[in-house]
Amino acid sequence: MTTQDAAKRKAAEAALAYLEPGEVLGVGTGSTVNHFIDLIAEKRLQADIPGAVSSSNATTERLKKIGIRVLDLNDTGTLSIYVDGADEANAHLQLIKGGGGALTREKIIAAASRTFVCIVDESKLVGVLGKFPLPVEVIPMARSYVGRQLTALGGHPVLRDGVTTDNGNLILDVRGLDIVNPVELEARVNAIAGVVSVGLFAQRPADVLIVGGPSGTRTIK
Ligand code: A5P
Repeated sequence: MTTQDAAKRKAAEAALAYLEPGEVLGVGTGSTVNHFIDLIAEKRLQADIPGAVSSSNATTERLKKIGIRVLDLNDTGTLSIYVDGADEANAHLQLIKGGGGALTREKIIAAASRTFVCIVDESKLVGVLGKFPLPVEVIPMARSYVGRQLTALGGHPVLRDGVTTDNGNLILDVRGLDIVNPVELEARVNAIAGVVSVGLFAQRPADVLIVGGPSGTRTIK
């Protein structure tokens, strides 16, 4: 296991403390969350989890493999806890997400959850968001139009090659943005016709950020 992977696993392990027995859980996507799912299996915690709402087909498969029922968000109401990773996080717990392409479902689950516990290794912590290209999910016919609008906002959008999201859409990865006002940029990108969602989690940031490093974890709230 690489040092980074070990740090992700530490963050994932610390998130187990937020599980609420008997409560349906929201589960995100990515390698850090995969550690979280694996740890649930290793520690045999499945009996405490009546079901989970999943943010991607990949996570759904992994949850089912360890015997966790995957539920439709329409049948669960508000979730108490949502656990997910991020590609970048700042000190205000605002995030860039969507490196794994699951940003839209992740946003929906975050919005529908009382507590969003974000788990990252320390390489994801930044002062200003934007070094990681900002993912934007777009309706296929709007790809060029949205690209031009994102360029007008100062970004350099690039189509993620060969990728179709679980929702049948495309992803533009936008480089070159110094995101000094994440809430404003999120609103501006959301307002472009053809945008399904943007991987900026600023209007609804994480509630708890668990940062894994070589000597353990720290929690920012
Ligand atoms: C998935 O679409 C993303 O939002 C992930 O949460 C993010 O890419 C983090 O992935 P890792 O845990 O693999 O770093």
